[in-house]
Amino acid sequence: MKYKVSFFVNEEPVELYVPANMTLLYVLRDMLNLTGAKDGCSAGECGACTVIMDGKPVNGCLVLAPELDGKHITTVEGLSKNGKLSPLQEAFIAHAALQCGFCTPGFLMTATALLDEDPHPTREQIMKGISGNLCRCTGYKSIIEAIEDVASHYEGGKRI
Ligand code: FES
Ligand code: FES
Repeated sequence: MKYKVSFFVNEEPVELYVPANMTLLYVLRDMLNLTGAKDGCSAGECGACTVIMDGKPVNGCLVLAPELDGKHITTVEGLSKNGKLSPLQEAFIAHAALQCGFCTPGFLMTATALLDEDPHPTREQIMKGISGNLCRCTGYKSIIEAIEDVASHYEGGKRI
């Protein structure tokens, strides 16, 4: 059985018929060709599939497609505007906060939601905020420093 769902992805309206057991992650990857969100565990353990749903970070592997009706989803593909990377994406590059990059879209989406909610989190709040995202390459220090950099210099996406 398929369900009709209407929702928004990166501010664009989408209407699809989705199987009941398909996850948001595979709606994005297989039906919409948005492959930024990654499948690291399919079990809510790694955060590689993180996207923002109605302002909150969610694991795309744990959201079933029929739940999407009426929702607003932002993926890593929606972070850049007019060909310009977001301040957080720029900071990840400046701080070398990635190596293989597999975890990076998930960290970017978690940290974007964190900074949207509180533009100036403490280091402890950043560490708690990203605790659901795993990285096996960087050792986390550079990721935390990149987020702190944006927290120190930006508010609402604008330099302060
Ligand atoms: S793939 Fe979703 S948390 Fe790992
Ligand atoms: S950069 Fe490789 S898993 Fe994070």
